[in-house]
Amino acid sequence: MKILEVNNLRMYFSTKKGDVKAVEGVSLEIGKGESVGLVGESGCGKTSIGISILKLLPDNGRILDGEILFKGEDLVPKSEDEMRAVRWNGISMIFQAAMNALNPVYKVGDQIVEAIMIHEDVTKEEAHERVARLYELVGMSPERAENFPHEYSGGMKQRAIIAMALACDPDMIIADEPTTALDVIVQDSIIKEIKKIQAKLNMTMMYISHDISVIAETCERIAVMYAGNVVEYADSVTLFASPLHPYTHGLLSSFPSIKGPLKKLTPIPGEPPNLLNPPTGCRFHTRCPYAQRLCKEEVPVFKEFKERHYAACHYAGELSLR
Ligand SMILES: Nc1ncnc2c1ncn2[C@@H]1O[C@H](COP(=O)(O)OP(=O)(O)OP(=O)(O)O)[C@@H](O)[C@H]1O
Ligand SMILES: [Mg+2]
Repeated sequence: MKILEVNNLRMYFSTKKGDVKAVEGVSLEIGKGESVGLVGESGCGKTSIGISILKLLPDNGRILDGEILFKGEDLVPKSEDEMRAVRWNGISMIFQAAMNALNPVYKVGDQIVEAIMIHEDVTKEEAHERVARLYELVGMSPERAENFPHEYSGGMKQRAIIAMALACDPDMIIADEPTTALDVIVQDSIIKEIKKIQAKLNMTMMYISHDISVIAETCERIAVMYAGNVVEYADSVTLFASPLHPYTHGLLSSFPSIKGPLKKLTPIPGEPPNLLNPPTGCRFHTRCPYAQRLCKEEVPVFKEFKERHYAACHYAGELSLR
C-alpha cells in the first residue's frame, strides 16, 4: 500500500533576483514501512521536498503545481489548521541541525512532554511515561530525560530529537540529514539505531542525505536528485548495480566504497546549476558526457523503465554507462 504519493510537484522560492526553481516536476511514491533515501548534492532541493510535503514553507516559498497524496488525501489544498493535524501524528520531520534547537533552559524530557501534550489529549504523567519508553527505544536511559541540553553529548541530543519525532507515533518520518553534524563514530551508532527503530516499528521513512553511502546503509530504495529534479528512483541494489541515469552513475563513481575493491574515483566535472536560471531541457545536460541536442531542447519524462525503477533521461537504457 502506498502511504505517500507525490505527483509532479513544483515548488519555487521567490527572491529579489527571481524565482529559485527548487522542486520541478518531482514524482515519488513510498509504500508503507519502506525506507526511502533522498540523495543529491547540496542545494539540489532535498530539504525543499521535505518542507513541501509538510507544507512548512517559509513566506517566500510556494507550491505551484502537483499533488502530495498522504494516505490517499491531497495535502496541497489543506489549510494550516488541517495541516497541524497531519504534522506529528501523520508525518513528523527531523530537521537538519534540529539538535541545536533544543531549548537550553528546559530539561530535555520536559520539552518532549510538552510536545506530546500540545498534540494529544494525555495527562502529564502519561506523557512522562511515554518519554521514558521513547528514551529506551532510542537507546538512552530514561533518567536522562531529567537533564538539560548542555549535559548531553551531540549524539544524545540527536537521539532525543529522534525520540521527539516519534513522540506522537507518526505514520511516517522525514529525517533530514539526521547525523551530518556528528562525528563518524557517533554517526554510525545513530544510523544503526534509526535502522533498528525503523524495523521494529515498521516505520515509513524518508531519509535525506547528501551522502550516498549513508543512504545505502539505511534505505531500501533510493531517489537521486539533481538540480530540483528526481532523476532516478529504484531499490538500492538495482540502483548500485545498474543505474539508468548518467548522473546516478557519476554520483556512484565519485564516492569511495568502504567494502568494495579500491577503484579510481572520478568526480563529475562542472558545478550544479544555479536554480534561479536552470538549464533548458534536461537540467543535467550541461554536465552530461552523453548529452545530445534533444537533451538541451526537451525535458525528459520521469518514467518507469522496469518495475519500480524510474528514471528521467532521454537515453536511459540505451547508454553503456562506464
Ligand atoms: N528560503 C529560501 N529562499 C530562497 N532560496 C532558497 C530558500 N531555501 C532554499 N533555497 C534555495 O533552494 C534550493 C534548494 O535548497 P534546499 O535547501 O532544498 O537544498 P538541499 O538539497 O536540502 O541542500 P543541503 O544539502 O545543502 O541541505 C537552493 O538553491 C537553495 O539556495
Ligand atoms: Mg537540506
